[in-house]
Amino acid sequence: MSKTGVAVIGVGILGSRHTRVYSEQKDVDLVAVVDADEKKARDLAAKYGIKAFSDTKEFVQTLGPKGTGQVQAVSVATPDHAHYEIVKECLVGGLDVFVEKPLAISVEEAKSLIALAREDARVLIVNYSQRWLPEHQRVEELIHRKLLGDVSIIESHRWDAAWVPERMISWGAKTTPIHFMSSHDIDLITFWLEDKVETVQAMVRKGFLERETKNPGMIDGIVALLRFRHGVVVSLHSSWILPDSFPLAADTYLEVLGSDGALFLGGSTREMKLYKNEFAERIAFSGPATATEVNGRLEGAFTNSLRSFLESVQTRQLEGPASAARTLHVVEIQDAIVRAAETGTTIHMKG
Ligand SMILES: NC(=O)c1ccc[n+]([C@@H]2O[C@H](COP(=O)([O-])OP(=O)(O)OC[C@H]3O[C@@H](n4cnc5c(N)ncnc54)[C@H](O)[C@@H]3O)[C@@H](O)[C@H]2O)c1
Repeated sequence: MSKTGVAVIGVGILGSRHTRVYSEQKDVDLVAVVDADEKKARDLAAKYGIKAFSDTKEFVQTLGPKGTGQVQAVSVATPDHAHYEIVKECLVGGLDVFVEKPLAISVEEAKSLIALAREDARVLIVNYSQRWLPEHQRVEELIHRKLLGDVSIIESHRWDAAWVPERMISWGAKTTPIHFMSSHDIDLITFWLEDKVETVQAMVRKGFLERETKNPGMIDGIVALLRFRHGVVVSLHSSWILPDSFPLAADTYLEVLGSDGALFLGGSTREMKLYKNEFAERIAFSGPATATEVNGRLEGAFTNSLRSFLESVQTRQLEGPASAARTLHVVEIQDAIVRAAETGTTIHMKG
């Protein structure tokens, strides 16, 4: 079996996880890590006995297909606002790319990355890992098999603790909760509904984090209302101001109400309550969640998402379900939510 040569660019919290999971795959040759913070790259490279770079261009020219060819595919886990330039550099250099969500902040950037990948037949996949959570796969099945009847209303909450924008990441003012946190919810809902958004309304709240971090522009939270073309109404709550006593970095809550049933899903409890006219069920999900250590390896939704990227690279599947091209609408919705919140107007989405 020939191994796929890979590298990881941006080795903070998520990039370190990409690096570890690649190191645990039998069909992968982990070759290098890249980080603008040279020490971070060197320390992690030493741990895995691989090469370290602090400059993406130099890395691509040295080890990419136009250099030694040791690396064919990369993960990009730089901050949200720094995805575009890095992904572009990698695609131009002939690499397949697995990029953390969000693909990019602006729609123009996202479209230009998709066009670049298409031109050169490169794989460009976004890490929408939450699709692989068993509880989300159950929601997908319930909706796709119409077991809730016609879906009418979805409400989705995503909360992070305030220490995430205050101390965990240093670039909170350069993204929004809708990009950093709710990418997953928007992806899941559009994927489950197989439909596009027609109108967007939203409100933003600022004040608390601007004061706490002395960072103008830092958003406390956004609440958005989306109407899909087939009529489904979605309410999205996205905030990152939970106090220190909150025991988790993040939590979620989802409600899906249909003409023939309703479900309520707790993110951290992994408990689903399902109500139909004929019966009611309480389902507890267990097993690996997003990234759970099992027998010394990381297993779960994250690993499955990364494996699906590797399979796409190995089989040259260019436009699989989480490809940038098939998930562009997520970036379009995020952009519309921010515009609706900033202008106080209803955004009518075209196309
Ligand atoms: N899939 C998920 O569930 C999930 C969860 C959390 C975060 N994320 C995403 O992962 C990405 C990284 O988040 P994080 O929490 O690991 O952030 P982080 O701040 O911990 O790490 C980012 C790293 O990128 C490096 N970097 C910054 N600019 C660079 C550049 N131009 N070139 C090379 N390196 C650069 C930084 O030095 C840092 O080490 C973000 O896009 C975030 O939204 C995804």
